[in-house]
Amino acid sequence: MKTYRIAVIGGDGIGPEVLAEGIKVLDKAAALGGFAFEYTYFPWSCRYYLETGRMMPEDGIETLSKFDAIYLGAVGYPGVPDHVSLWGLLLEIRHAFDQYVNLRPVKLLKGADSPLKDVKPEDIDMIVIRENSEGEYAGAGEWLFKDTPQELALQTGVFSRKGCERVIRYAFELGRKEHKSVTSISKGNALNYSMVFWDKIFNEVAAEYPDVPTQHFLVDAASMFFVKDPKRFQVVVTSNLFGDILTDLGAAISGGLGLAAGANLNPEGTYPSMFEPVHGSAPDIAGQGLADPLAAIWSASQMLDHFGYPELGKKVLDAIETVLTEATVLTPDLGGTATTSQLGDRVAELVK
Ligand code: NAD
Ligand code: IPM
Ligand code: MN
Repeated sequence: MKTYRIAVIGGDGIGPEVLAEGIKVLDKAAALGGFAFEYTYFPWSCRYYLETGRMMPEDGIETLSKFDAIYLGAVGYPGVPDHVSLWGLLLEIRHAFDQYVNLRPVKLLKGADSPLKDVKPEDIDMIVIRENSEGEYAGAGEWLFKDTPQELALQTGVFSRKGCERVIRYAFELGRKEHKSVTSISKGNALNYSMVFWDKIFNEVAAEYPDVPTQHFLVDAASMFFVKDPKRFQVVVTSNLFGDILTDLGAAISGGLGLAAGANLNPEGTYPSMFEPVHGSAPDIAGQGLADPLAAIWSASQMLDHFGYPELGKKVLDAIETVLTEATVLTPDLGGTATTSQLGDRVAELVK
């Protein structure tokens, strides 16, 4: 039987709790599809850091490179500085495996509750493609004259032709395939090098896709339109930091962080891709059975798409919509009283 080898990194806080539910659903989908998943669990996390001084072993990347995909919960917990934990694990994996496409659907599912008034599922249906390998997250910079009155910090954004072009092209290929418009979100008025460059490359690539309608917004106006008129967005392509912020906003308008999924893709398949909810470790609710597992489950559905089983990915998404519409087994963030694992069980039951 075809078996996919998955590296599971629960990470911190609610990370392991929500992944356990995603795994129930993956196993159900695999049984339907006549294949199997084999999971290898890694304890890499802030707790691991406090014990060993590292977020993952020195050969962690090499170890992960042997897997077909990575399923990750969340990273970051009080007690370890966030920049240490994130650069030691999550961001290191995204960079080392050149997962330059971060695919984050912003879609109001049937039965999900938006805080915007009078919106229907068809009004919020976008796919945000966040550049995921460079930009503001290049990790380049300096901290000069540290701890003196002259100290200063430089954080260098890195926008390469290759880096911008490939992610923008990915967006256009998707727009062409799905007959959708492609919107670039940038900030060339103020960021007079990086974002002027981004805009130039967007226009160059757009010229190769005359069949794909395009739009461009400055990120400040785009944030406003996400709330006032989300209908105008279909495929959205943007830089690393803007994509980070806009997808939390996107989560907020489409049912909350408990529902927002993401895939970190290395489209060429040279390295494993990684599937993880958009949300963090939620220390405020960790360990209490309160976490909403639907974001992690939706990310699992993206994994099924990635492995070439879109019909199974859709079954999982349909099951999520059914559980939301039934509204009998929901976690507190969705207005219910069910536990994380009761919600996971119900979704797994509905995948058929
Ligand atoms: P967060 O996403 O963890 O939480 C924000 C708020 O949303 C909290 O009130 C939390 O309870 C709620 N929430 C998040 N996910 C939820 C879920 N599945 N169900 C119900 N409620 C949910 O963001 P934060 O508090 O800013 O960050 C906490 C830690 O997580 C920090 O260390 C941060 O760096 C890290 N973080 C990691 C990732 C990641 O691993 N991808 C993403 C974001 C934040
Ligand atoms: C996300 C997170 C990460 C990011 C953090 C934890 C570094 O917020 O995946 O959205 O900014 O990419
Ligand atoms: Mn984020």
